[in-house]
Amino acid sequence: MSFVVARDLSRTFNLSDPWIVRKLTMRPKRLLKAVDAVNFEIERGTTYALVGESGSGKSTIANMVVGLLAPSAGSITIDGQNLGDASMSRQEQQRLRRRIQMVFQSPYASLNPRWRVGDILSEPMRAFKLIDGATAQRKRVAQLLEQVGLSDSDASKFPHEFSGGQRQRISIARALASQPEVIICDEPTSALDVSVQAQVLNLLKSLQKEFGLTYLFITHDLAVVSTMANKIGVLNQGVLVEEQDTEDLFTTPREDYTKMLLSSAPKIDFDS
Ligand SMILES: Nc1ncnc2c1ncn2[C@@H]1O[C@H](COP(=O)(O)OP(=O)(O)OP(=O)(O)O)[C@@H](O)[C@H]1O
Ligand SMILES: [Mg+2]
Repeated sequence: MSFVVARDLSRTFNLSDPWIVRKLTMRPKRLLKAVDAVNFEIERGTTYALVGESGSGKSTIANMVVGLLAPSAGSITIDGQNLGDASMSRQEQQRLRRRIQMVFQSPYASLNPRWRVGDILSEPMRAFKLIDGATAQRKRVAQLLEQVGLSDSDASKFPHEFSGGQRQRISIARALASQPEVIICDEPTSALDVSVQAQVLNLLKSLQKEFGLTYLFITHDLAVVSTMANKIGVLNQGVLVEEQDTEDLFTTPREDYTKMLLSSAPKIDFDS
């Protein structure tokens, strides 16, 4: 079995008015199927990309894989353990949660502006009881900062003192602080300039190699996944319409929807 397995993953949102309003206005219930029976598998140490237009259900899937949102149906299994297994103790759940971390799109919104970087990075160590004692935590913070290309002295600064790219490095360091095996990247570079984007993607790639990380990489930007992903799944209105190895998807797309996405992406040369 693959390291990460999504089986018939579905999520419905109830957009209905409250019951009493519906009775008065005679309006029917409105349900939105944001994710509809999606299946994919990710091998350990590889990157699986989900691409699709805005509203196709990418973040909804990300939130379910990381455990922030419960599926309406279907399941997610990580290393053979079902995330929704009700028989798991709180401790077991926490242990599983630690192994899956997320890097969000906006490095501006996802870091607490009132916390110093050192506190942001040591919080997961305390929450998951990974490293005890202030000295050991400080040492680990310095190590994390170095791993993402920042410096020891950055620990005492606040998020607003950094550029967008540096802030995304801090988000990555915070994810690494939990010593995860799976990282979900939801549009991690779409708020950044193209040159900075490339640096952050390269950092993610070298961290993957160093720590054997498994990535679920989410983006609307096919140019980004061409360099990152081993396999790509294409989402259209909550349905996974096509899945292929990266190079095959670019050279021989099957679905019209995929061809449409490709035609609006910049040309990608696999030989360079
Ligand atoms: N909490 C929610 N309540 C109601 N509807 C929601 C909720 N979250 C998402 N949706 C709807 O589900 C659909 C999928 O949203 P989702 O955020 O997963 O899309 P996305 O592919 O991540 O889009 P984007 O590229 O814009 O981030 C959209 O129609 C959205 O409006
Ligand atoms: Mg999204």
